[in-house]
Amino acid sequence: MRNPNSVLHIGWFDKPIAALQRTGAEVACVATAREAPSVRAAGASPIVVPDPGSVADILAGLSRDSLGPADFAAVCSSIEFYLVQAAAIAELGGARGAGLGRTLAMRDKFVQKELLHRAGVRTAACTLVENLHQLDLAEFPGPRVLKPLDGAGAKDTFVLRGHEELREFIASTATADDGPWLLEEFVPGKEYFIDGVVRDGQITLFSLSQYFQNLIECHDGGLTAYHTLPENEVPDLSAKTLALAESAFSALGYEDGVFHLEVFWDGTEVWFGECGARVGGGRADKLVELTFGVDLHDEWALAALGLSSKVTGNETRSKQCYGGLNLRSPQGRLEHVPSLDEVLARPGVVQAELTVAIGDTTPVFSTASNMRAGQAVVSGADAAETARRLAELNTWFFDSIKVAP
Ligand SMILES: Nc1ncnc2c1ncn2[C@@H]1O[C@H](COP(=O)(O)OP(=O)(O)OP(=O)(O)O)[C@@H](O)[C@H]1O
Ligand SMILES: [Mg+2]
Repeated sequence: MRNPNSVLHIGWFDKPIAALQRTGAEVACVATAREAPSVRAAGASPIVVPDPGSVADILAGLSRDSLGPADFAAVCSSIEFYLVQAAAIAELGGARGAGLGRTLAMRDKFVQKELLHRAGVRTAACTLVENLHQLDLAEFPGPRVLKPLDGAGAKDTFVLRGHEELREFIASTATADDGPWLLEEFVPGKEYFIDGVVRDGQITLFSLSQYFQNLIECHDGGLTAYHTLPENEVPDLSAKTLALAESAFSALGYEDGVFHLEVFWDGTEVWFGECGARVGGGRADKLVELTFGVDLHDEWALAALGLSSKVTGNETRSKQCYGGLNLRSPQGRLEHVPSLDEVLARPGVVQAELTVAIGDTTPVFSTASNMRAGQAVVSGADAAETARRLAELNTWFFDSIKVAP
């Protein structure tokens, strides 16, 4: 029987689950056996399954606990890879959910771009490629970007300029036969992102940030670093991006929730890159909290449960500029890593975490933009100071690490 206070969250993610609990909800969480102790420690009930991304596993897991989708008032997920499954389970149970059609529009890169093209929103032309071995690039003049339909962190996402590169890509990856792939027109320009909130179809929070380097450059040693951007730092960018976001959300039917939108700015016009119905990765959440005093995880939970947003529209913007950085280490086995206290003592660092320890092997940073040895949030008086401090922190951290020869 439906418990009006009970919410099913697909996948384990501490901050959003705490945010659901702050609303007073009783949370059940579909999780793996490894994650189950953390779910219990957080005061939620685990539904233990081998694969939380499998609808069959979720239904079987619920059934083993004598539950079903109709027992919950709401079914949701804050994890990109489980959004569609959560929407499907909600529909099966007649529970509150994000809506299957709307969720697919915010999740599948092809569906999203098709809807935007139809509405006339500026975004890359794209086509589906079922079999990479039969792809004839002569039909697609100019550079193209090849990507998986549900990619993340720019993994397996490459710029193709000719057949030689295509052959090299096919030879270098184990996923070449996992089509369909998406082939997109290459959009020139610098990449920016926006984290925010939309309620009743109106954008109520809009936090614009810039990347140091476009994320795709991670494959060539590019840094994953970013900082917030004062509104008029780049003339026209903010106003044009807001207008683009409004038309995009209307085309996608995305009316209630948080978003992480990526755009390209060619110096004159802004191009839609992609948009997720989730809190941005890295420390996007912390940047918004420090800049506007808004907790995006709370906003995600409130929207998921149909409760009122806490955003008033009168948030005062911090005068500080905040940025985030994926910390990197040289390749090898780590023999010395600076302590967290040493990282926190560097100029402007307001928050940091390390995800490697002595004895670990360095992650291969060139595989994806979200590979890291840790991350840090840095503040500065303005964008220039924050950017300088992020670059200095990156160099200092890298140079302080010793690896086995
Ligand atoms: N059409 C394009 N033109 C130019 N660059 C592109 C294009 N599509 C993607 N990129 C680059 O590749 C990166 C990854 O692509 P995309 O954002 O589509 O996938 P992703 O792997 O889902 O990223 P995320 O980590 O945001 O989930 C982008 O951040 C951008 O730097
Ligand atoms: Mg992206």
